Amino acid sequence: MIIALLIFNFPLIYSATDLQNQCNIPLSVYYGTSCLILHTELKKFNTAKIACNDILGYSGHLVHIRSLDYQPVIESLMNASSVLNAWIGTECYGTCTTASNAGWYYTTPTRKFEESATFIAWSATGMTGNSVAWQKDQKSIAIDPRTDYAFICEYEEKYAYKITAAAEYCKSKPPNAPSNFVSAYVDGSCFIMAATKATIAKLRTSCSNVTGLVSRHAHLSTTAKVHMARSFGRALAETYYNYPLNQLSDFSFTTGLEQLKACTDNTCSEEGSYSWFWTTPEGYKWPAKMQESYFWGPGQPTTSTTNNYAYMTGKYTDGYYDCDATRLTALGLICEYLEPYSFTDFENACLLSPNPSAIGYVSCFTLNRNAITFDTAQGKCTEFPGGFLARVNTVDMGTFVSTALWAKTGLPPTMPLFNGLRRYSSQWYWINPDGTKSTANTTSLPWDAGQPLTGDCALLGQNGLLKTGSCTTNQWYLCQYRNKLHEFNRGIADLKASPSVVMSETYNMSFRQCRQSCQNNGDCTSFSHSSSNNTCQLISGSNKATVAASGFNWYKPEL
Ligand SMILES: *[C@@H]1O[C@H](CO)[C@@H](O)[C@H](O)[C@H]1NC(C)=O
Ligand SMILES: *[C@@H]1O[C@H](CO)[C@@H](O)[C@H](O)[C@H]1NC(C)=O
Ligand SMILES: *[C@@H]1O[C@H](CO)[C@@H](O)[C@H](O)[C@H]1NC(C)=O
Ligand SMILES: *[C@@H]1O[C@H](CO)[C@@H](O)[C@H](O)[C@H]1NC(C)=O
Ligand SMILES: *[C@@H]1O[C@H](CO)[C@@H](O)[C@H](O)[C@H]1NC(C)=O
Repeated sequence: MIIALLIFNFPLIYSATDLQNQCNIPLSVYYGTSCLILHTELKKFNTAKIACNDILGYSGHLVHIRSLDYQPVIESLMNASSVLNAWIGTECYGTCTTASNAGWYYTTPTRKFEESATFIAWSATGMTGNSVAWQKDQKSIAIDPRTDYAFICEYEEKYAYKITAAAEYCKSKPPNAPSNFVSAYVDGSCFIMAATKATIAKLRTSCSNVTGLVSRHAHLSTTAKVHMARSFGRALAETYYNYPLNQLSDFSFTTGLEQLKACTDNTCSEEGSYSWFWTTPEGYKWPAKMQESYFWGPGQPTTSTTNNYAYMTGKYTDGYYDCDATRLTALGLICEYLEPYSFTDFENACLLSPNPSAIGYVSCFTLNRNAITFDTAQGKCTEFPGGFLARVNTVDMGTFVSTALWAKTGLPPTMPLFNGLRRYSSQWYWINPDGTKSTANTTSLPWDAGQPLTGDCALLGQNGLLKTGSCTTNQWYLCQYRNKLHEFNRGIADLKASPSVVMSETYNMSFRQCRQSCQNNGDCTSFSHSSSNNTCQLISGSNKATVAASGFNWYKPEL
């Protein structure tokens, strides 16, 4: 009896994967750790390249043929459907020959998971193109991408991702979709290009509203997203516009890129090459990594005072070209759909600031692009309650600020920022808005190489590090607003800070004195207090390391 049970239970151990279970449609086969699916409908190469959307959640792409072992697998699918030629995922982006694998890639629409080709079963015929098809009995042929062929998709276990509502939306092609409809799910967002165009009245809000998702003009903020846009472009050029081979990169798009100026008519030092942001209908904005090599076309952006937008094109030398609003409305628009933002009220207010702004270190930081002296700047952090010139006291914090506010590159080198740090004789202080000061802990200040030198102010540079300079020159400045610092919340009871994050422990201090002491100390971010013997611990950094200690309560700013 026991033996029989064991035997009957045994097969359950071999449970099929989710991908195996889904790999059950006609002309599909699970091979190795991939599902291969042959599509018999005919498409041109670039169009087939973005059409592997049968199975959600596995980053579909044209099949990567890595050895001759694939031949019987794919040829039996071809036999079963009488297909003689099918596109596979091998491609050259520049100039390649079919004498070797050099320059050839196992391609994907986003170039994510792409690899240099290690094996190509070259045929002896049809060797004059950058796109590769499998010809039954002939193996790999390189030909013109505009040829209409069947195609073979591959879904790999190792490229699985979590399916989100945006991914689901991306798979569902709407009824009556226009013939220029293309979609792709990349890095958490669904990108769709269809019939929509931006209008002057809707330069941020032209993308349709979708229940349960937020929409915006596409933020091409990662290289995968940029490559996806190029794949869209080539697909539309060959199929929708029927362009000749040498014009497959002649696409231009409108996206969500805008120049948000601090001052009109280029009177601020950031114009026209700085202050480019990805914007949303709600008014959120994130700095664009516009100094990345793939970003601007040559000579771009120009110093034009009216070109506050830019479009992406593959024409000329690929990249963004600045333009006015009218130009944007003449081009195809890429829309982006993603899960709703989950900002708190505090974060929301911060991100809607007209200044570049970012949330971190239980604070809102704003970049104020108005050049004034330190003494004037000291009282100017008034956009939200409780503001002060920022206290950037570690390399981590400097890196965060430079990444979140100007993408490491968008701060003019001539405009390092005043922040709260000022020197009187040899001592550095954090200066409060009312001019009072508290001694700064200089142990971990983010000094640039060779710093500090002479100068009574410390200015935060493009790289997020500090350099000394004069307090009386006119500079831009960095503000910080703590998230309701005055309203400390009680944290988990019976905890005090572990010694590694405590900057001071004092006795005989009331709760109020302890709280005041934290607020006055430039490096204090939370505190713990024991009401039984009035011990007060000031805690630094975003560290919340705590240890059990009866009678203590931990107080932190409300999040
Ligand atoms: C495909 O069909 C041909 C005959 O048309 C046969 O020679 C070949 O073995 C078949 N290949 C596979 C993998 O089934
Ligand atoms: C989407 O909704 C917003 C807010 O209701 C509106 O301003 C915008 O025009 C809508 N977009 C479209 C394309 O209908
Ligand atoms: C200053 O900061 C360092 C490192 O963060 C810390 O170890 C030290 O205790 C701090 N000193 C004071 C006086 O707070
Ligand atoms: C706290 O204050 C009391 C009375 O003022 C004093 O006797 C005691 O020594 C103080 N304790 C500490 C740890 O300073
Ligand atoms: C104060 O009380 C806490 C908790 O009761 C205890 O852990 C700590 O050692 C006490 N400190 C002093 C100085 O008595």
